[in-house]
Amino acid sequence: MLTSVRGNTEIASGAKQAAAFLYGSSEKRKVKFAESNASLLAMSQMIAAKNKGVDSHPMSGIDFEGIQKEFGLKESENLVMVISLGYFDASKQLYPRKPRRLFEDITTIV
Ligand SMILES: Cc1cc2nc3c(=O)[nH]c(=O)nc-3n(C[C@H](O)[C@H](O)[C@H](O)COP(=O)(O)O)c2cc1C
Repeated sequence: MLTSVRGNTEIASGAKQAAAFLYGSSEKRKVKFAESNASLLAMSQMIAAKNKGVDSHPMSGIDFEGIQKEFGLKESENLVMVISLGYFDASKQLYPRKPRRLFEDITTIV
């Protein structure tokens, strides 16, 4: 941190305080921040996979405890979601896509 702010201890100390508040001032805030980051990473991975011709399917309806146990994850290692990845089988037919609300219906431009 100090190196990135060219040795400015005031900036480094401010950043440290901000980080402590944002990421560690409460368990709820800590988990929220971690899950937000993990979700952004998940979406990036899905987009990157698509770019390589690989489809993906995020899942939260999963056996969190079972997976945690099977993969030997520690108590402190929280599972956020599972993403299955694979190549689309063109011989199969997908169910029709469920309706989506339009961009205009869910956003307000300010
Ligand atoms: C956070 C999240 C969790 C999901 N969990 C499941 C799941 O547990 N099982 C499942 O079959 N689909 C789950 N889905 C839905 C599918 O991953 C997928 O989004 C859905 O089939 C619609 O696909 P489409 O957006 O390509 O039409 C989940 C979606 C999201 C965003």
